[in-house]
Amino acid sequence: MIGAQNMSAPIRWPAEAIWEAISPHLAGFTVEVVPEIDSTNTELMRRARAGQLDPVLLVAEHQTAGRGRLGRQWFSGGVESGGARLAAGQLPSLMFSLGLPLAPLDWSGLSLAVGLSIVESLHLDLQLKWPNDVWWQSRKLAGILIETASLGDVRFAVVGVGVNIAPRDGQGLSTPPASLSELLPGIDAPETLLRVAQPLVRAIQRFETHGFGPLRTAFHGRDLLYGQTVRCSDGLIGIARGVDASGALLVHSENGVKAITSAEVSVRPDLPAIPI
Ligand code: BTN
Repeated sequence: MIGAQNMSAPIRWPAEAIWEAISPHLAGFTVEVVPEIDSTNTELMRRARAGQLDPVLLVAEHQTAGRGRLGRQWFSGGVESGGARLAAGQLPSLMFSLGLPLAPLDWSGLSLAVGLSIVESLHLDLQLKWPNDVWWQSRKLAGILIETASLGDVRFAVVGVGVNIAPRDGQGLSTPPASLSELLPGIDAPETLLRVAQPLVRAIQRFETHGFGPLRTAFHGRDLLYGQTVRCSDGLIGIARGVDASGALLVHSENGVKAITSAEVSVRPDLPAIPI
């Protein structure tokens, strides 16, 4: 059974090709495409709590309550959120969640590993803004929301990814978003999914075995914050100097080096460089 279920009419999703590429490496894997849902992350967490723990890739053409990190909303960028009206069959963004049981020795750095896989699958010029936002030319292009649930002995991870495909309104954001079609003219949501899905599963499996450490150099090659003066949400101001082997952000300030594990970090070009 392929497990692909596409109830929408015009958009052709490469569900079968993705299933064929992934299922040999991931027992019980299915692909499901739905025309609309509140949030693919919310749905997979609901299913997990109801005991559905098989690996699944859930794609939504529209989300009515998409969620971002730190309790923020994630808009698909369609007409419902003030975005551009697109041709029939064109989606303004790709939205999917991958749910699977996961048992790494150490969870730290998973979000960085996911972000790295996404940028490496899409374009050489994409960068990562710690911990896992995908940026292009000083604008956010994609976001990642990772959630986990402990269910008995099993820890189930839901990796949600939203990629802007077509240019869209800023919707009150301080920096208007970037879109993949600016870098790759003509690309659409199904093609983007085909590019990212299988490498993402393999990257998560490698992370489960080896952790984040081996990815540190590759992360530095994509690190948007490296060398920038940053302000962390706890008020710390310093210069970002990459990440350590656990994926913590290293910030050098007058008080030494601090490893940041969870904080909102903003780049502050307006702040004077700190001599360290
Ligand atoms: C962020 O940038 O804060 C993370 C955004 C994550 C958005 C994706 S879209 C698919 C999945 N379902 C959600 O509700 N959120 C994630």
